[in-house]
Amino acid sequence: MEKALLTKLIEKYGDAFYILDTRQFRENFSELKKAFSDIYANFGIAYSYKTNYTPKLCKIVDEMGGYAEVVSDMEEEIALRIGVDPRKIIWNGPYKNYDGVEDLLLRGGTVNLDSSYEIDKIAEIAKKHSNKMLNVGIRINFEIGDGVVSRFGFDVDSPELQAVLRLVKETENLHLIGIQCHFATRRLETWKPRAERMIEFLDKYAIVPEHIDLGGGLFGKMADSLKEQFDSYIPAYDEYARVVAPVFASRYGNCTEKPLLLIEPGSALVGDCMKFAAKVINIKAVRGKPIATLLGSVYNINPTLNKKNPPIEIYSMGRPQEQYHDLDFGGFTCIESDYLYRHYYGELAQGDVAVFGNVGSYSVVLKPPFILPNFPIIEITDKGVELVKRGETFDDLFHTFVF
Ligand SMILES: Cc1ncc(COP(=O)(O)O)c(C=O)c1O
Repeated sequence: MEKALLTKLIEKYGDAFYILDTRQFRENFSELKKAFSDIYANFGIAYSYKTNYTPKLCKIVDEMGGYAEVVSDMEEEIALRIGVDPRKIIWNGPYKNYDGVEDLLLRGGTVNLDSSYEIDKIAEIAKKHSNKMLNVGIRINFEIGDGVVSRFGFDVDSPELQAVLRLVKETENLHLIGIQCHFATRRLETWKPRAERMIEFLDKYAIVPEHIDLGGGLFGKMADSLKEQFDSYIPAYDEYARVVAPVFASRYGNCTEKPLLLIEPGSALVGDCMKFAAKVINIKAVRGKPIATLLGSVYNINPTLNKKNPPIEIYSMGRPQEQYHDLDFGGFTCIESDYLYRHYYGELAQGDVAVFGNVGSYSVVLKPPFILPNFPIIEITDKGVELVKRGETFDDLFHTFVF
């Protein structure tokens, strides 16, 4: 980025803002889709809205033929307002507002049942709308060797799973449209078990659903400096595809009915599509330790507090810089541990701008309204600078409180 442009952006949008890159997002979507479709053609992407539900991104997913993966009626509303065909909305999640569920089912969307409390609720809705076919899926939970006991979905060996299978079998207007699973672990070696266990399950019950959905949990693209901070290998899209898609090609390749294989990526699509720019407000030394304070917080870029240093670029804004060793970038909040980046070695001056990369996932959606409302999101396009989300104001945050 040119200094002149950064100066103009600061003048217009303030000393901190997010920069969205929808060109990268489109490229990621196409590349991921191609990687899987080249091996198993009946493949689709259901974008995980919760990861970054900026409407501009959700709209791109829709335009590019993707599905909307939502986990609340709030997220369903985003999809509907964008104009997503309800038949392309898939609702997951351990808690569901059943008024919202009823609404989505009546519109033709898919609701993936997660737990036994949903069995009676779905039975009630089916009874109430007995002349309407309702699309339900079942989320299943099995061992994938990742060392985690996931709390989501029906355990494949549980009586609750038998009960939900019985319900969909015995209820004429419940159409079992899909089977889904999701595991948070992103490691490549956990993807073959997901694919194989899913097929074992389907074959055990002789189910050939319209969708087979393996959920999210894929790594996205990132700079080497970030990759090095993970304790596992960071695979590329086509490496996941080469593990998963052949399992489906070999099982369904010769069948007339080829289920749609879905995945629900969030981070893998959007992680590298956002940056965060924040001005250096002050540089101090405390007992010899250099600390820069930014108009920005770890809660702006990494509210899951995973302690990783994102890629960083420093833009000199004119004041003479000094060389720093082991400088930490602290945030504007009063939380002692609020650091955006630790152990910086390089040049810096007060008034410079730090730009952090790879902040697209679980950032703007998770930022708490703590101490300061959130900063604007802009996009720099060939046509100029576009406002994607204006900066939040006092009233945006406080109009729900009673004064
Ligand atoms: C059901 C479901 N699908 C997809 C995702 C997206 O996961 P990721 O961002 O790891 O791809 C999540 C994340 O929690 C999820 O719960």
